[in-house]
Amino acid sequence: MDKIVSLSKRRGFVFQSSEIYGGLNGCWDYGPLGVELLRNVKDAWWKAMTYREDIEGVDAAILMHPRVWEASGHVENFTDPMVDCKQCKSRYRVDILFEETSIKKQKDAWRELDPNAPKGQVTDEEVQKQFAILAEKYTDKVLGVLTCPNCGNKGTFTGARKFNLMFKTFVGPVEDANAIVYLRPETAQGIFVNFLNVQSASRQKPPFGIAQIGKAFRNEINTKNFLFRTREFEQMEMQFFVKPGSDVEWFNRWKEERMQWFLELGITKDKLQWHQHPRDKLAHYAKDAYDIEYQFPFGWGEIEGIHNRTDFDLARHEEYSGKSLKYYDEQTKERYIPYIIETSAGASRSFMAFLVDAYREEEAPTADGKTEVRTVLKFDPRLAPIKAAVFPLVNREGMPEIAKQIETALRPHMRVFYDDSGAVGRRYRRQDEIGTPFCVTVDSQTLADQTVTVRERDSMQQERVNVSQLRDYLQRKLY
Ligand code: GAP
Repeated sequence: MDKIVSLSKRRGFVFQSSEIYGGLNGCWDYGPLGVELLRNVKDAWWKAMTYREDIEGVDAAILMHPRVWEASGHVENFTDPMVDCKQCKSRYRVDILFEETSIKKQKDAWRELDPNAPKGQVTDEEVQKQFAILAEKYTDKVLGVLTCPNCGNKGTFTGARKFNLMFKTFVGPVEDANAIVYLRPETAQGIFVNFLNVQSASRQKPPFGIAQIGKAFRNEINTKNFLFRTREFEQMEMQFFVKPGSDVEWFNRWKEERMQWFLELGITKDKLQWHQHPRDKLAHYAKDAYDIEYQFPFGWGEIEGIHNRTDFDLARHEEYSGKSLKYYDEQTKERYIPYIIETSAGASRSFMAFLVDAYREEEAPTADGKTEVRTVLKFDPRLAPIKAAVFPLVNREGMPEIAKQIETALRPHMRVFYDDSGAVGRRYRRQDEIGTPFCVTVDSQTLADQTVTVRERDSMQQERVNVSQLRDYLQRKLY
């Protein structure tokens, strides 16, 4: 992971937010290449999800009426259990603190708190099982015998308390309770409250969906693992409204489609898996939920959730707003609240999965017949930030002028990069490292027959292509 974080900074994918002031925890900035990659991920999602007749797009405001978050359950339920160390003031999410407690410390805690705990040999599984039971039943007692990971003091934790993850701010000049609004913690609610607006404006009938890409904000207690858990991030969410009774079938269909999307964009199959939420851990709105998980260097992590949200959301917004959100079916004369199947992907987490999955270090031949290690990002060409680099082999004999003309001709159609510095082998390596699928080189043969070499990133094979056909050639391979 460290190599990817360092490459991200060096080559302009991702920078720490407000870095010159020491950074702001849980916030990241996308640099020139990162912004292209992120845009390409979002474009691929938008095309897959809305270039079809049964899904419409919206772009709702980030600030919404505060009652939205009461209706959605976020004011009451969107909390994490949290503790502070009274000594060093570090703050922890209780579940993560327990998860990261070593087996030895779990065993010590078990023995300290349970007089019946065995004194002799015991398996790690048994220790984990017993520790989990104690942590669930006697949370504060367990906290009382653990040491703070930061300062190492024992018994310095406060009791566990609920911490709401929504960021609060105020609308207008008066900062009182009546002016409180929240930065949305998910984009979904902007879709639910617009369900009938979109349905009637676009004359859709269930089954149909509404898609949205946008920022979401969560005041996460523990931000970690680069872009994985951040305080500001982007979601790509689609809510599919169906007739009750057809929800299970649509849930299964969307599950398959969403997994397929990641596979078609080149993510390694073995690095993706399903995780079904256990019945007793389902979110308050869900009847069934599966996560698509990616195997990051730090372990498996959710990149998208597919949820059967039932009629919970629309029923609650009806109740809290006093406005009917029922759909009336003219043909069958039925009036009902649709069930919702949600596909909720993190744009930033998907970005990170595509970046991590593309990263390789390989042996590659050098011009003098030896080999060297090349770092290469094997992005699907649709996601690559730069589509083609254009080089003059040498900076004389008219080669730079022809290369510049080629760059100018390609630029309106794709992101291109011109590079005339250093040996051509080094220029290839620089492009490999940022995942550019094609490098186009103008050489002495170009002067004779108007052909250039096109070198493909993954195979490193070169082909000669006539300049007049270059754009068609690249576009065919890129999209
Ligand atoms: N509307 C449902 C919803 O928001 P979620 O599982 O909380 O469900 C959906 O979030 C997706 O949003 C996750 O799969 C993840 O990709 C992304 N996500 C959630 N919290 C995040 C965070 N703190 N940082 C980055 N991405 C996050």
